[in-house]
Amino acid sequence: MAPNRQRLHTPLCALLGIDYPILNAPIGTAAGPELAAAVSNAGGLGMIAVSFLDGADAVRQAIRRVRALTDKPFGVNLLLEWPQEERLAACLAEGVALVSLFWGDPAPHVEAIHRAGALLMQSVGGVEEARHAQRAGADVVLAQGWEAGGHVRGEIATMALVPSVVDAVPGLPVVAAGGIADGRGVAAALMLGASGVALGTRFVASSESTVPDMYRDLLVAAGSGDTVFGGTFDIGWPDSNMRTLRNSTMRRWIEAGRPPIGARPGEGDTVARRADGSAIPRYHVTQPAPGLTGELEALALYCGQGVGLIAGVEPAGQIVQGLVREAGALLASARGHLD
Ligand SMILES: Cc1cc2nc3c(=O)[nH]c(=O)nc-3n(C[C@H](O)[C@H](O)[C@H](O)COP(=O)(O)O)c2cc1C
Repeated sequence: MAPNRQRLHTPLCALLGIDYPILNAPIGTAAGPELAAAVSNAGGLGMIAVSFLDGADAVRQAIRRVRALTDKPFGVNLLLEWPQEERLAACLAEGVALVSLFWGDPAPHVEAIHRAGALLMQSVGGVEEARHAQRAGADVVLAQGWEAGGHVRGEIATMALVPSVVDAVPGLPVVAAGGIADGRGVAAALMLGASGVALGTRFVASSESTVPDMYRDLLVAAGSGDTVFGGTFDIGWPDSNMRTLRNSTMRRWIEAGRPPIGARPGEGDTVARRADGSAIPRYHVTQPAPGLTGELEALALYCGQGVGLIAGVEPAGQIVQGLVREAGALLASARGHLD
């Protein structure tokens, strides 16, 4: 048994068949099979987000690629903002261990997920949403605090949200997400009653993420106050809030007095193009990804407040090991912090 295994073992580990209760959060196109497999191989649970893959074939290929890189369990994530039946069916036919759903009602999908022998993890931003997920049959709830990078469901910070959700869904393991970027955050989340943690921004800054180096470098240089929460990158996903880095697009918008949609500076500009040549306008929801060209710095650079804790780029497996070591030591010596 690995030295820290017992110290950081939670009921979530037994449920998912993993050594450590550490997940890479779904981070859109930034987490490909290489990143997910590295996290799973290090004893955590790797996740790929398949919402943006082009149809069932692409989903199958991504899952098979993770399988080729690890024989450990891993999860897939789908955003319910868009119809996902076809992608979900492909995931279930491939026999994935865990389906993570976000931004919508899980109820219509629970039966199919369970019939296929998979577990359902529902991401929530509040207590009512967590209760609904439990009633609908979710096996795990991910509580996403307001500090989180990417699309953010609620407006409650992790410190207050996690224990409230833990109390609201007795018997269900809760995974904490939002602002957790080092072993101190992992230990704190477990003390709040979480059974696991999911880190997004920290893994965007890993060697295996698919983002351009420019994005990783900006994350390493950023402080915890360098993110903005709001609905600015609304094109392609309207009426949603997200947390991003204060990049050139955000700075122009802030300097213009945060004008409403339709009156924003540079609205209508093409800032980047996809591999097929199609244009990505300023304020579009797309994050920098392989195959995109243009002014990638001006795209939505999803990023949580924990970014100020990221000191450098590391391989994902090393990140998992460091989190386990640091959190394990802190929890073992927690009394050492008291007088
Ligand atoms: C680049 C990026 C992309 C994201 N894409 C997704 C996604 O596709 N699906 C999803 O459920 N959450 C997505 N999220 C939210 C994360 O799953 C998670 O809740 C968040 O990263 C946790 O906060 P942290 O970044 O402070 O660790 C994304 C977050 C980031 C940073």
